[in-house]
Amino acid sequence: MSRQAHPVPVSPSMLQRPVRIGIFDSGVGGLSVTQAIRARLPHAELLYAADTAHAPYGDRSEEFLCDRSERIARFLCDQGAQMIVVACNTATAAAVARLRAGSPALPLVGVEPGVKPAVALSAARRVGVLATTRTLASEKFRKLAEAHADGATLVLQPCPGLADAIEAADAQGNGLDVLVERYCAPLRDAGVDVAVLGCTHYVFARALFERALPGVRLVDTAEAIARQTARFAADLVERGEADADSAAGPALRAWSSGSPQVLADFAHRWLDLRLVVQDIHC
Ligand code: DGL
Repeated sequence: MSRQAHPVPVSPSMLQRPVRIGIFDSGVGGLSVTQAIRARLPHAELLYAADTAHAPYGDRSEEFLCDRSERIARFLCDQGAQMIVVACNTATAAAVARLRAGSPALPLVGVEPGVKPAVALSAARRVGVLATTRTLASEKFRKLAEAHADGATLVLQPCPGLADAIEAADAQGNGLDVLVERYCAPLRDAGVDVAVLGCTHYVFARALFERALPGVRLVDTAEAIARQTARFAADLVERGEADADSAAGPALRAWSSGSPQVLADFAHRWLDLRLVVQDIHC
């Protein structure tokens, strides 16, 4: 067999890169979304950033959250992310419009409280929404509620301190029950039959919410976000900008602006995930 005289021409498919998805949150909450994305896109490369040095986001100003979100999204793109998932309801409410305006060509998935599916599930037409103070006070949430309440009563419950407490809790949720009980009592009194976990951190306390709200169905949006992320990833593959089937590097890389060890320990404790976490300074 003769050797080729000329180099093999580079075809568009050879230029493809694996789908590389940047995901961020104020801390560990976005790991709940990351798990759902991993299950749906096992061959994608996931780049996770936790802005722990500036957490919790729930009590921050909109301007501050826009600035942090822009910096972190830029950092993830510099690491090669081809799309961004804002795995934080609070940052989405404050900053997703600004991120979209700043990078119109960048596929961007945001997270918002699952008011629409919750209202559809509620026979009592009474739905509780548990989220951060900032999310519930945002214009984006006001519009979401207006568009999807469909005449049902929404009982809004801000949960200051809960995201922080989850960051620090052990995998049994010890120490969280008092706060969860405090925030669930008004929902029980109001007779809701569905409650939205409107912060990605709260998914880790699901068992405690179930105990505090017997008979109430809990709605979170991790699955819906993973589906939307998979649709965007499929578009990248279709446009020849990514390859769905080959992860070149480690499937999940992580950074923290706070203590890398805290994020690594949480991932190990709650998800049995061994994460190598690096520092970010941005
Ligand atoms: N995990 C975030 C959310 O979904 C915010 C938690 C916080 O930092 O206050 O809203």
